[in-house]
Amino acid sequence: MESSAFRLRPYQPSDFETLLRIDQACFPRGIAYGRQEMKYYLRSEGARCLIAEADGQMAGFILIEQSAEFAHIITLDVLETYRRRSIGSALLEAAEKAATQQGAPRMVLETATTNKPAIALWKKHGYREIVTIADYYGPGLDAYEMHKTLRHSPEGN
Ligand SMILES: CC(C)(COP(=O)(O)OP(=O)(O)OC[C@H]1O[C@@H](n2cnc3c(N)ncnc32)[C@H](O)[C@@H]1OP(=O)(O)O)[C@@H](O)C(=O)NCCC(=O)NCCS
Repeated sequence: MESSAFRLRPYQPSDFETLLRIDQACFPRGIAYGRQEMKYYLRSEGARCLIAEADGQMAGFILIEQSAEFAHIITLDVLETYRRRSIGSALLEAAEKAATQQGAPRMVLETATTNKPAIALWKKHGYREIVTIADYYGPGLDAYEMHKTLRHSPEGN
């Protein structure tokens, strides 16, 4: 019987190969990050990566980079078998919470204009299209830049 239970935990270096495989399973060749690119993002200043585990294995992850101006979602990936179980939403909400606690005023991301599941997820979580970036993923592959303002409580949390 399938279980819908999952848990979130921080990334650790031993996750790297599995994480890379998941990104390659989630995106077509040329759009998925290469090994060096992924290493670069994971090591960059302000990088934050959260892992979702289900059935004792990695089911997805979110990778963001944070600066004083905004938190940028580099990627959000959930393996096909584990989709529509709220894992993507849980990863996104946890990343937003952490970014809010670190003082980021907003979340920013790019998503392919043809990626209907992702756009539905972003909109459900309050993101809106700011601009269309022509050829962002290659010739003819446009992206929306989407933003969400993060709410900070008066206590600064
Ligand atoms: C986009 C993605 C991360 C969603 O992950 P997920 O765990 O399935 O998302 P959730 O179960 O939390 O879905 C949340 C909401 O998003 C929307 N959504 C997600 N997948 C959808 C789909 N295939 N069709 C329509 N709406 C969808 C729905 O509103 C859904 O809520 P609901 O299930 O209550 O209807 C996943 O499909 C994925 O990894 N895709 C490939 C990689 C990618 O495109 N990443 C995002 C761009 S960086």
